[in-house]
Amino acid sequence: MLEGKSIVITGSGRGLGRATAIAAARAGANVVVNDVDGAEARSVAQQIIDEGGSAVASTHSVADPDQAKAIIDLCVGTFGRIDGLVNNAALVVNVSAWQTTAADIDRLVDVNVKGLFYCGVAALSAMHLQKSGVVLNITSRSHIGWPEASLYTATKGAVVSATYSWALDMAPFGVRVLALAPTAQTRMSGERTSDSDPADIAQVILYLLSDRASALSGQIVRFSGDKLSLLSRPTYDDPAVVREHFTPEQIADALENDLAAQRVLIGVGSADLSTIG
Ligand SMILES: NC(=O)c1ccc[n+]([C@@H]2O[C@H](COP(=O)([O-])OP(=O)(O)OC[C@H]3O[C@@H](n4cnc5c(N)ncnc54)[C@H](O)[C@@H]3O)[C@@H](O)[C@H]2O)c1
Repeated sequence: MLEGKSIVITGSGRGLGRATAIAAARAGANVVVNDVDGAEARSVAQQIIDEGGSAVASTHSVADPDQAKAIIDLCVGTFGRIDGLVNNAALVVNVSAWQTTAADIDRLVDVNVKGLFYCGVAALSAMHLQKSGVVLNITSRSHIGWPEASLYTATKGAVVSATYSWALDMAPFGVRVLALAPTAQTRMSGERTSDSDPADIAQVILYLLSDRASALSGQIVRFSGDKLSLLSRPTYDDPAVVREHFTPEQIADALENDLAAQRVLIGVGSADLSTIG
């Protein structure tokens, strides 16, 4: 499905990235196996080569702008072009909102948001000149709300916003941008036995990177191995309350009466906070 394509997969020394790198190579792609954990990246690249595939290891960190650019340059330098980037590297921390530390904020934003931008911008500049390519950003369904994970979920919300806006910017150049919200049994997900094999999740990534998916851009795809869906469009509800000016009293009246039925349930578990306080 990816015959002759050159693909960068960040954080592919283990977990979902590793499964994707191996599946992409088996599907005919040349793969840059990137991971800040160099031993893991080299071992995945070697496994691909031992199977007769084409791969090169990158031990750069996505969180450094020069190193992120070096990952993309390695792909173009080694394989002549870049057809796909899977922005997969990420860190997680599970902590209550009021216990989030400044050190954790820096760590997660550096990898999950800045790292995604550094690699994305470097890849999009090359793709915009080529007038082709796909960026697939790995987000999480938790970005719509998940308890004890506000920092992680906020970084994954940033991934969704970047996907929508990049898709708009890149459409005139024939470059597609998508996001995937997966569930897979990995180091990150821990011991949840209900989670799917990362190799099953990799199948949807192969399709999204392939030319078969040429009609898809700007979509947030959810895949748990046995269930595939698209995120519906977040939008402001109609009817709105319209007045030339609003007093605080009229705002209260609008939110407490006219718009009360439009209040949404929040979070993956759909919590109803309408009676809070
Ligand atoms: N596993 C799940 O159920 C699940 C659910 C939702 C979203 N995701 C997302 O899927 C992606 C892959 O997660 P996973 O479960 O395979 O996690 P994982 O921890 O097994 O793998 C992540 C990899 O990223 C690497 N990495 C971390 N910082 C890096 C950096 N600065 N530069 C390069 N590599 C770096 C790590 O060394 C690790 O090998 C992540 O974006 C994660 O947020 C996973």
